Amino acid sequence: MLSNEGQISFWNAAAERLFGYLAEEVINRSTDFLASKGSGDSPDLAKALRSGKTLGSFETTVRTKNGSPLQVSATVSVVRDKNDKPIASAAILRDVSELRETRDQLVQAQKMEATGRIAGGIAHDFNNLLAIIMGNAELIRSSDDRQDIEALVSEVVEASERGAELTRRLLSFARKSQLSPEVVNANQVVSSMSDIFSRVIPKSVAIDMDLAPDLDQTSVDVSFLEGALLNLVINARDALQDAGQLSIKTENTVISSSKKNAHGECIPAGDYVMISVTDTGVGIRQDDLPRVVEPFFTTKSPDRGSGLGLAMARGFARQSSGTLRI
Ligand SMILES: Nc1ncnc2c1ncn2[C@@H]1O[C@H](COP(=O)(O)OP(=O)(O)O)[C@@H](O)[C@H]1O
Ligand SMILES: [Mg+2]
Repeated sequence: MLSNEGQISFWNAAAERLFGYLAEEVINRSTDFLASKGSGDSPDLAKALRSGKTLGSFETTVRTKNGSPLQVSATVSVVRDKNDKPIASAAILRDVSELRETRDQLVQAQKMEATGRIAGGIAHDFNNLLAIIMGNAELIRSSDDRQDIEALVSEVVEASERGAELTRRLLSFARKSQLSPEVVNANQVVSSMSDIFSRVIPKSVAIDMDLAPDLDQTSVDVSFLEGALLNLVINARDALQDAGQLSIKTENTVISSSKKNAHGECIPAGDYVMISVTDTGVGIRQDDLPRVVEPFFTTKSPDRGSGLGLAMARGFARQSSGTLRI
């Protein structure tokens, strides 16, 4: 408990245990000696006590008698007399270092698991590409038709390029993505992927492409755009569960004022190119909607989803001066 003058006026047995100071060592002292030097940007307990305000629980670091930092969860309340005049501030502290350690370990474990899943997924993709390359190479060996060979070689080259692309995307996890934007027509990017889309999407799903003929040019990193689109299409496939319709649409759009969208994001007013991927699948639960863009959020089984697709698509869109809307 802190008096109006900012001095400790009451120190209970629990505080003695937590800090290692006896009541007589601290009474009438100011609280500065309890602050931890290394507490960084966590809120300052002494300041909170002096603010004269009631503050809900927040985490901060304090210093115990032997000098070691201690993580606590604190609540601060103002004590008033019968005329509503503040007479003291009371702080209730709880040691949360163990809790925090467990939480950190949990987050670490989740990250490890996700990394493992990504590695597993990539190993799987690489194996598929290698299978294409080796299969085609075998066919090339046994063929003497010039035209056949050329078609097979193109497939080998294409698979190798996708492998290189995969490595690039993998590296983008390690550091902020190095985007190499170029001025392109997004219709071309979408069209060039139709082959891949039809391989990913089962025959029972109709793919509807609606590409604006007068689409403006846009500056974008093509392989990242391809990655983002592929993920949206795979998400649609998972949502469609083998039946329904997938639509991919491009259009010019004008953002007239930089008002915040539903996700609290705003982009500057101006002319934009919009690419929409829509499906008639199961949809997203209202409760999940704010969370689907969080890294590692997934409703899929571990072998199907890493929860990184939308997070990466959003990161890429933002880095490209655009936005992702769901
Ligand atoms: N087209 C969609 N229809 C329904 N739910 C979707 C769709 N796209 C994404 N979601 C939801 O958002 C979650 C996160 O998507 P994403 O970041 O791509 O990760 P992942 O696909 O690995 O789960 C999915 O697990 C799913 O619950
Ligand atoms: Mg996905």
